[in-house]
Amino acid sequence: MIAWSECFATHIELVDSQHKRLFEMLNSLSDSYNKDGPSEDSVDEVLKLLVAYANDHFIEEELLMLHSKLDERHLSIHRMEHKSFIYDVNNMWTYLSSEEELLILTENLIGFITSWLTYHILGTDRIMAEQIFAIQRGSSPEQAYEQRNNFKFDATATRLMMDSVLDLWRMSAERCFKLEEELARLRR
Ligand SMILES: [Fe+2]
Repeated sequence: MIAWSECFATHIELVDSQHKRLFEMLNSLSDSYNKDGPSEDSVDEVLKLLVAYANDHFIEEELLMLHSKLDERHLSIHRMEHKSFIYDVNNMWTYLSSEEELLILTENLIGFITSWLTYHILGTDRIMAEQIFAIQRGSSPEQAYEQRNNFKFDATATRLMMDSVLDLWRMSAERCFKLEEELARLRR
């Protein structure tokens, strides 16, 4: 379970309300378990809704960045993170579901989405918001981008981000090892 708290706030109303909805949808993935564990149909249904909602939210965020004239250096990294989220979730569900037990796969998906949302909202999205506010106060997009490292992360946000990045790194390493094993098996 992931709980919304003020430390996730970007202070852009539309963005925050959509992030809260994503948290709710992620929590409903944990709730989709019945007494025997998750069922493939219920996970599939919740996951499809979550990915579709995330995709719409990413499009809105990217339009907001374009309208706010954010520096292209931030936009390209931000777009790439959005794209990789959709790719990774679809990939984990589509290609691994035949090989992994449903319970393990669902727990991995919940872990991945939780860590990704935590890292992305606390880091990338809040830095996006800071640049939008700086431009509204009169900075140029370049100045706003170059000042992004002055953004202060409090201790709680820093700890949450570090834990999430480590989780994402661990999951990605496990997937690489599995792919290497699969490759070695195919070559034999
Ligand atoms: Fe984002």
